[in-house]
Amino acid sequence: MKKTKATKLMDAIASLCKRRGFIFQSSDIYGGIAGFWDYGPLGTELKRNIRESWWKSIVQTHENVVGLDSSIIMHPRVWEASGHIGGFSDPMVDCKSCKKRFKADGLCEEQGEDLITTEKGFALPENIKCPNCGSRELTEPRDFDLMFKTFIGPVEDDSARAYLRPETAQGIFTQFSNVLATSRQKIPFGIAQIGKAFRNEINPRNFTFRSREFEQMELEFFVEPGTSEKWHTYWLEERLKWYEKVGLSSDNIHKDVHPKDKLAHYATACVDVAYDFPFGRQELEGVAARGCFDLTQHQECSGKSLEYTDQETNERYIPHVIEPSAGVDRIALALICEAYHVEWLPKKNDSGLEPLEAEPGLRAPDGYEERTVLRFAPTIAPIKVAVFPLLKNKPELVSKARELFEQLQAIWPCFWDQTGAIGRRYRRQDEIGTPYAVTIDFDTLEDNTITLRERDSMKQIRVPINELISILSEKLK
Ligand code: GAP
Repeated sequence: MKKTKATKLMDAIASLCKRRGFIFQSSDIYGGIAGFWDYGPLGTELKRNIRESWWKSIVQTHENVVGLDSSIIMHPRVWEASGHIGGFSDPMVDCKSCKKRFKADGLCEEQGEDLITTEKGFALPENIKCPNCGSRELTEPRDFDLMFKTFIGPVEDDSARAYLRPETAQGIFTQFSNVLATSRQKIPFGIAQIGKAFRNEINPRNFTFRSREFEQMELEFFVEPGTSEKWHTYWLEERLKWYEKVGLSSDNIHKDVHPKDKLAHYATACVDVAYDFPFGRQELEGVAARGCFDLTQHQECSGKSLEYTDQETNERYIPHVIEPSAGVDRIALALICEAYHVEWLPKKNDSGLEPLEAEPGLRAPDGYEERTVLRFAPTIAPIKVAVFPLLKNKPELVSKARELFEQLQAIWPCFWDQTGAIGRRYRRQDEIGTPYAVTIDFDTLEDNTITLRERDSMKQIRVPINELISILSEKLK
């Protein structure tokens, strides 16, 4: 099959992620395992920056939001109460010819049709065909359980069955009373959590976008009944501001409002924050108003009261919930896609040629060289500063550069590189998105100045070494 421009672009991005240590296939040396990914040294830093930025904007800067770190495996009754057991499934179809499996609703949507709802479940419209081999011989849609199962203890029978959590949210709901009792919070207040979630997705795809093991950042914000609309608007706006702050252009971010008739039965509103990936517009986060569904369910199933008493009015009620729920891996992928640029630059400054945007899969024209650059916002960039001695065989340059590197490393993640031509070293840093590089040369030994080079403009300025930290602190803010 001929590759589309988007597929070529995603291939180039996935190849860079592997080559430079952002993302590897899980169990790579055994041929990989579908839907599971490992983050290499740079991917780990990138995800850490995403988590820290989210935590700062949600918890640290809101005195009425506190954190939680709940277990991945919980009492199985949690999932009965939440509706996941028996209800957390996707209708799927198999192609009888090529044996591939697809999500029924996605398949219909791609072919401009709607999945038909019947008394027994679902049916496919007549003209749907297999996107892989073109066959119209597809099975009827059947439910496919998305919960990963395991057993607790030595006996593997139904009484020992447990589940890997498909979302972090239920850990928050089940600890609502404990957190309330220990944190001296009053409604409105929130509990935030970052952690792994697991879903046995039918069709993991689009690189890390739909994985079977992924990480969520969720806030459950508890409010007084009747105030949901106000808080839903507040959190949606907060989240949109955050996306811009971490470097996703507002042109590529969209609010997808769920129509009232497509909402889950308990929800009163849901807006997805979606991003224009090369493979199309897709959800990064859902911001939902979930009513009092979750706490009511857990109150009924556990027999423990989850009511809140307003100390001033003595009024008792089950709080309503606003839930911004985002995926770390999807945000990391969006940031990489947004940052990824390939340029063709004139080899010579005086050639009269203009820089060009590269065409995926094509070679740079004569007179040009290619530069790949990840234009991460400084707060998100895995490495903030690279330090280079001009020549590795001049001990006085190396020791001066090393001294500076150690000072900078105490403040920011830094990278030391002393091999290869200086231009090549700059290009290596461009490709991993390092915003600044510092070169120590012979002039440094004379006048204590260094060259500071900026990634996007490639401009170089001379800076006194004793002013470097304050200049970088300002630029990396
Ligand atoms: N507690 C609500 C909840 O879990 P969701 O829309 O199913 O809602 C929230 O998931 C977010 O988790 C999504 O917006 C997405 O960013 C992330 N997510 C969900 N399934 C995912 C998957 N299979 N792979 C990667 N991220 C996923």
